[in-house]
Amino acid sequence: MILSDLSWSIRGTLGRKLMSLAQKYEDVINFTLGDPDVPTPEGICQAAYKCIREHRTRYTASAGIPQLREAVAAYESHKAGIEIRPDNVAITVGATEAIHLAFRMLLNPGDEVIIIGPSWAQCPNNVLLCGAKPVIADRYTEGFLPDMDYLRTLVTDRTKIIVVNSPNNPTGTVYPLELLRDIALFAQENGLYVFSDEVYSALVYDKPFHSISKFFPSEKLVIFNSFSKAFCMTGWRVGYVIGEAHFIKRLVKMQENVAVCVSSVSQWAALEAMTHVDKYAAPIRHTFLARRKVLVDSIEGIPGIRYGTPEATFYLFADISATGMDSRTFCFSLLEKEHVAITPGLSFGDAFDAYVRLAFTVEDDVIQEGARRIRHFMENF
Ligand SMILES: Cc1ncc(COP(=O)(O)O)c(C=O)c1O
Repeated sequence: MILSDLSWSIRGTLGRKLMSLAQKYEDVINFTLGDPDVPTPEGICQAAYKCIREHRTRYTASAGIPQLREAVAAYESHKAGIEIRPDNVAITVGATEAIHLAFRMLLNPGDEVIIIGPSWAQCPNNVLLCGAKPVIADRYTEGFLPDMDYLRTLVTDRTKIIVVNSPNNPTGTVYPLELLRDIALFAQENGLYVFSDEVYSALVYDKPFHSISKFFPSEKLVIFNSFSKAFCMTGWRVGYVIGEAHFIKRLVKMQENVAVCVSSVSQWAALEAMTHVDKYAAPIRHTFLARRKVLVDSIEGIPGIRYGTPEATFYLFADISATGMDSRTFCFSLLEKEHVAITPGLSFGDAFDAYVRLAFTVEDDVIQEGARRIRHFMENF
């Protein structure tokens, strides 16, 4: 079979390789998943059952059901502090599809996208799927904040977009206002679009979340968000994209041909979530805040691991350079010796090979047992 060049541009992830190896063991503790074990809140499930019982199970408008677009516009206007109307919103198959379609909207082969690293792997992969070039900005200052001087050196005449992901996967860092202002100014000076991936904005713990929308004109700003993390709805596949009305209209034309629409049942469930954000999202945030403490307490004092407490998300990014191992060697030998799976930093950019990501998306006792095994590994390697 002769496959297309584009199909070869995406390589299998290290995390996936690790997980297929992990299947050999029955007692694996899995810290790799950005997919929480917390069930979707019952009220959201009830809205889905009702939708099915009432046979609201046909195709919907490709942009999404109007009620959900309206609810998202109201919520995001409040959050972003700018006016967002329903025609600025399209409902998509998770934020992943939104990101894919938005890149498709702007990129021609050979164009370049600056992605502030470390970055979730699907982001550069979706740039590659457009035949364009992802450029990871992988120099940073304290706390994984991007080095602005370095950022400036990455711009070429093919650069079209800069991607900002705050709160960040994998570091859990929340960008401060001044930094967002600097990035917005930088993008404006260089005529770039800003893609702001805000899928973890409801999972912030220590400081408020700010959107770059405060500083950047809406014509060139595209915001992504999702129901996956805030409402524990990963498998429902609902997210959304916010942009200038004409951009959204054209993006919906693409959506029509790619997915037609998001599952009607998932959209009605998402509407229930969006109309009662505090009721559903606050307990979930609390769960992860508590789990963060369990993880941080359990790994405290383990020799050879350095980390800061994540300000947001359900990830902790730890520095393992003191072990002398690269992240791949570290993760594969931890799996082999202790049956603990964690994600190598290399998965988030070449410059992050001295780090590993632990996702606290599992129960407290599992976190504690995993930490106990990591401690044993570190004391004996
Ligand atoms: C930074 C980031 N953006 C976007 C997504 C996509 O989420 P979804 O497609 O489930 O909405 C993820 C998922 O892990 C993520 O970590």
